[in-house]
Amino acid sequence: MRSNGNMESKANITAHQDKFWFVDRELETRRASHRLRTLVPIVPISPREVEISGKRMISFASNDYLGLSKHPLLKERAIEYTIRYGTGATASRLVCGNYDCMESLEKRLAELSYKEKALILPSGFQTNVSLLPALADKDSLIISDELNHASIVLGCRLARCSLEIFPHNDYDALQKIISKRRDQFSRIIVVTESVFSMDGDRADIDRLVEISKNFSAIVVVDEAHAVGVLGTNGMGLSVGSGVDIIMGTFSKALGASGAYVACSEKLASYLINCCAGFIYSTAMPPPVIGAIDAALDLVLTSEEVRRELLKKADYVRASLKALGFNTGFSSTHIVPVIVGHEKEALDLSQHLRNKDIFTLAFRPPTVPPGTSRIRISLSASHSWEDIEKLVEALSSWTRL
Ligand SMILES: Cc1ncc(COP(=O)(O)O)c(C=O)c1O
Repeated sequence: MRSNGNMESKANITAHQDKFWFVDRELETRRASHRLRTLVPIVPISPREVEISGKRMISFASNDYLGLSKHPLLKERAIEYTIRYGTGATASRLVCGNYDCMESLEKRLAELSYKEKALILPSGFQTNVSLLPALADKDSLIISDELNHASIVLGCRLARCSLEIFPHNDYDALQKIISKRRDQFSRIIVVTESVFSMDGDRADIDRLVEISKNFSAIVVVDEAHAVGVLGTNGMGLSVGSGVDIIMGTFSKALGASGAYVACSEKLASYLINCCAGFIYSTAMPPPVIGAIDAALDLVLTSEEVRRELLKKADYVRASLKALGFNTGFSSTHIVPVIVGHEKEALDLSQHLRNKDIFTLAFRPPTVPPGTSRIRISLSASHSWEDIEKLVEALSSWTRL
């Protein structure tokens, strides 16, 4: 470890010529507080199974909520699009032109989102970090839920405007902030997730829209964890509501990667001109567009699959609550098991791994201090037997 204070750090740089002193310090701090992130090598076996160190395990770690990432139809269409269009998009669409497969995917997404237009982007992270700065100027105020994803948090910071954080899903607090600050800003943008990634609870979209409408605030909703699973045709909780910009990803239930925004025609033209993540990045690769097209075919006929998935989630929650676990306010296919201390979350994750179940421990800064957890991510590909095995494994854990 190099140093604790700035003065000492400066002295160290000259003394040892170690320009990376901060790396040692950061890694050591994380290690000491049980917050060090490391990569776990896995071999994917099936949508519900992975192999770790030669051992086959049931995975409750992936966001492959419908088990589509290895579906034959997605693979076939990805190959079809590769043969027809090639492996890469070769440049930004504003530079090398617009492929017909991009336009037709966007048309489909707009229709499914009940919006005039949709735009696809190469990743959800990229979308959030560039969408919010595109919407805001220095005289704007962004109001963001305190549990929003890191990409939204970063997008808010990059917007370089005023920022207010409202307590998680507390719409009275949101209303107070808007009514107090409305007149001080040229633009107000309210941003939330619809299904929160670490908690599996839901935003109240109707309430959000109602409050925002009264103050002419722009509403942006990140549907990353709802798309494929919840809402009309499984296309998210904002479909058919008054949300101005629906952001969704293809990287989770749709088994591919990338993201889209669905909005008015005028806003889409604005984003084509002002959203850096769209303008200055090579477009989504054609094989991925093929896979997404196939995933949408399957999502539209998966109503029963979705119902069954949510039934499994209800069962997991009820079983865990009966065992005395804290599953927060989850009401979806994401079920946190909140244990508190980092060490306990790591211990629970290891305990499950010893029982051939793969989950990860989520610790600060990904979740607030004191709420470390394992995150159970349920998939339609999990059998009832898998679920029973999970519950049984959790029931045999003894707290540190
Ligand atoms: C709520 C939310 N938004 C955006 C993203 C980023 O999406 P992507 O993984 O497609 O970059 C994530 C990723 O986990 C997320 O949970």
